[in-house]
Amino acid sequence: MPSTPSISVIGSTLTPLALVKHLENKILIDGKLIAPKSKQTFSVHNPATMEVIGQAAEAHEEDVDAAVESAHRAQKKWRHMDAAKRGHLVSQCADLLEEHADELARLMTLETGKALRTESQVEAKIFANTFRFYGGLGLEIKGETIPFSDSMLALTIREPLGVIGAIIAWNVPLLLMSLKVAPALVAGNTVVIKSAEEAPFAVLRAAEIMNTILPPGVLNMISGDGPTTGAVLVRHPKVAKLTFTGSVETGKEIYKNSGDKLVPVTLELGGKSPMIVCEDVDLEQVVSGALASMRFTRQGQSCTAASRIFVHEKIFDPFLVQFKEKLNALKMGDPMDAETDIGAIISPGQHEKILKYIEIGKAEPGSEAHECSELPQDPKLSKGLFVRPVLFTGLPNSHQVCQEEIFGPVTALIPWTDFDEVLDQANDSDYGLAATLWTNNLQLALKGVHQLEAGFVQVNQNVVVQPGLSYGGIKSSGIGKEASLEAMLEHFTHKKTIIFNMK
Ligand code: NAI
Ligand code: MG
Repeated sequence: MPSTPSISVIGSTLTPLALVKHLENKILIDGKLIAPKSKQTFSVHNPATMEVIGQAAEAHEEDVDAAVESAHRAQKKWRHMDAAKRGHLVSQCADLLEEHADELARLMTLETGKALRTESQVEAKIFANTFRFYGGLGLEIKGETIPFSDSMLALTIREPLGVIGAIIAWNVPLLLMSLKVAPALVAGNTVVIKSAEEAPFAVLRAAEIMNTILPPGVLNMISGDGPTTGAVLVRHPKVAKLTFTGSVETGKEIYKNSGDKLVPVTLELGGKSPMIVCEDVDLEQVVSGALASMRFTRQGQSCTAASRIFVHEKIFDPFLVQFKEKLNALKMGDPMDAETDIGAIISPGQHEKILKYIEIGKAEPGSEAHECSELPQDPKLSKGLFVRPVLFTGLPNSHQVCQEEIFGPVTALIPWTDFDEVLDQANDSDYGLAATLWTNNLQLALKGVHQLEAGFVQVNQNVVVQPGLSYGGIKSSGIGKEASLEAMLEHFTHKKTIIFNMK
């Protein structure tokens, strides 16, 4: 009988596949990696080869219940621990996660197909930084005093909500985990988090690492699909709040179910984010910005991806030429290879969906699909889910390709001449997550930032989620904010009003 490898959690140098072996068929409850009572598993693939990398545990009702009960028991002590001490433990998690950043990045690349250098390593650092940011905010969970009368003291205090049910997607699994877990814990809540079925291992490993520092039950992690596991977590009577990142459709379903229980919800859903380029810009700088905004190195699998790029008519042609040049210079290939810029699409379903949208765009009379970069030639990647980045021209903003979230490496370039008209077009969308505007004209910039309908507007730059900056959308892009102090206070605490009457 082969013996189970013994894992030293701290400072391990295991290969991603050895780590998968260690995490296979496991969920994390009460501080321990255990097999689910359901005895069910599902296969996880490497999208770059479509080989099965391992079997993840499928948590069923009794497993979800065990995770929630564990978090509920741990609540009693955790919520009464000094806030600064909770923050200190979360900061210690940040240090340990940073030490394991490379290991976590490799594991994430194996299961998601995202390129290690351009994506996973960057994300693993932001992941640790998010825990560090929130770890320093323990003493910021403050209330107010209210001037009521001299003989009375009226005040508010911030209290945790209880057990948080967190459900995340696969595109940036570590980042999403940190945006939910870090503020929830620092504010005194305990957590049950469900990973996405496509990418369960890196987040489970991160939870295992954190559990060497946190008291048992404070952070529990389960895996499984939406109906079997996610929906059960949503409906669990002891879950006091839900926080979700994923599709609009699932977000609405979760919103309805949380309504039945009357618990608060934070929803971070999709986007169809516009980018407006004025004629006065430095083309080279803006084209690099567009490349980053569209998240081409993440195969466009981003809710903020600039999937509608409005370029002033006067610079439209040179913009297109330079954009194609830059995209053609990116190397698509083995995500684990340090030379690779662009990796693979997460799943056959997403791959098919993206190809369908490309066909729909091509079928539109007058449209042109500029396909860039080259598919990898390596035979070991022949079954991999690769898609060439596409720049569409000749599609109006009203076209399906410009209105529906593709979540792939596809963007539309649309020419414009009148600034008011382009603002109307940019706002003509069901979504309202992010928008970027490139200009040095102060009047246009100010008008744009005030009139663009989005939760996050950037002028002349494009950063990804940064700890400290509130992030979250309006319209169909969701409800609530993440990543900031306000997000922690507003979404993971409630205000209790207290009056001392000393008359
Ligand atoms: P999804 O919303 O179905 O899945 C996200 C998470 O929700 C997963 O953990 C899944 O297991 C869980 N889930 C699914 N149904 C559930 C239910 N009824 N109750 C509770 N949990 C449930 O997203 P999916 O299928 O992975 O992708 C579909 C589309 O969603 C993409 O093509 C993209 O357009 C969009 N999407 C947006 C993301 C964002 O960052 N806002 C992230 C991922 C996908
Ligand atoms: Mg789905």
